Amino acid sequence: MATATAVRATATPAASGADASPPAYQSGFGNEFATEAIAGALPVGQNSPQRPPYGLYAEQISGSAFTAPRAANRRTWTYRIRPAAMHEPFRPLGNGRIVSRFGEVPTPPNQLRWDPLPLPTEATDFVDGLVTMAGIGDPAAMSGCALHVFAANRSMAQRHFSNSDGEMLIVPQHGRLRFLTELGRIDVEPQEIVVIPRGVRFRVELQDAAARGYVCENYGAHLRLPDLGVIGSNGLANPRDFLTPQAWYEDREGSFELVTKFVGNLWTADVDHSPLDVVAWHGNYAPYKYDLRRFNAIGSISFDHPDPSIFLVLQSQTDTPGVDAIDFAIFPPRILAMEHTFRPPWFHRNVASEFMGLVHGAYDAKAEGFLPGGASLHNCMTGHGPDAETFDRASRADLSTPTRITDTMAIMFETRNVIRPTRFALESAQLQGEYYRCWQDLPKQFDPERR
Ligand SMILES: [Fe+2]
Repeated sequence: MATATAVRATATPAASGADASPPAYQSGFGNEFATEAIAGALPVGQNSPQRPPYGLYAEQISGSAFTAPRAANRRTWTYRIRPAAMHEPFRPLGNGRIVSRFGEVPTPPNQLRWDPLPLPTEATDFVDGLVTMAGIGDPAAMSGCALHVFAANRSMAQRHFSNSDGEMLIVPQHGRLRFLTELGRIDVEPQEIVVIPRGVRFRVELQDAAARGYVCENYGAHLRLPDLGVIGSNGLANPRDFLTPQAWYEDREGSFELVTKFVGNLWTADVDHSPLDVVAWHGNYAPYKYDLRRFNAIGSISFDHPDPSIFLVLQSQTDTPGVDAIDFAIFPPRILAMEHTFRPPWFHRNVASEFMGLVHGAYDAKAEGFLPGGASLHNCMTGHGPDAETFDRASRADLSTPTRITDTMAIMFETRNVIRPTRFALESAQLQGEYYRCWQDLPKQFDPERR
């Protein structure tokens, strides 16, 4: 059992509180964690005693059907100062720039690419800074996903957020973030990710002047680690590198706002205390972080470039074995040693659809134009691959020594569904209208007289 520090602060406008201690974590993916911020706050041997320790309320958060098989069952018991039900009624807040209904504009079969979202000049927090680029499915049906980008320059102060529509996989690209959640605090920086489960309340504080990044909102099955098959018992993202926070709480009264996303709309409610008041908890439904630099990339040591599924970090499975609703893959620094091989990713058209981002550095299939903070979308059966410059260079490269790809971190959200860009994305000033030209200079090389 882990013990963490707690903060007891009175309500002040400076909601970041006086607790400057670094967050503390527990290691492992989807473990049965147990943690208490005050010794003895966690009941022993049962979940719901008649009177929990310290006058706390017991409350369960279930993230899966009660009868889900044990391996897929997710729930957490919290011991908190007040039940989560204590808030004023929710009122519509409007959608902002968040979209959950897709297809408002026709989905083009073109290759699409965007420049980075500009950093805001007006005060903008994490929730205000979210804008939906694309998506598919329906949060009410708990199927599909939305792909957002965000840019913010202000911490959430008295405001907290939760998402009833799905879990959120957040990929910071610029600026460090602190997530203060019901179940503890998580610090992340670019090249790390954080996953906030459906319904868990949190606020985001900026650790730098501004922040930008990507968010995959997963309406469907929980993200999980993929099976490794013939790779064996180690490799790709290793479970011990996932970190879940230890219990941490604040006992603060005052004027707070609770924003919830529910069936595509944002709602707001007043609450007279901080919702981050869980003193102890146990269970396996909790936020976590992962450092993408710890990914054990595996590839070919003979010839040919493997399918990109070899770079899978997390997956959201469907009812069809091997066909995922979301595959979160990364393209980290790695060594390419394949002989008599075109070493970068090959030209392809896939039944799956691919939304990519670049956290850091440059992407090895694109010599230019794909910028850190930018994004690309190659939908079902849309032809794409290395640009003309990359093709030319890789076709003539000396393969007698390995190629070291350094200083890069690209990400990909891939789905079995067509991804439908939003009106914002298609009318955005960041859309690169000339993107298709990166393939137009590929020369005709065919010569039937020369094998
Ligand atoms: Fe692709």
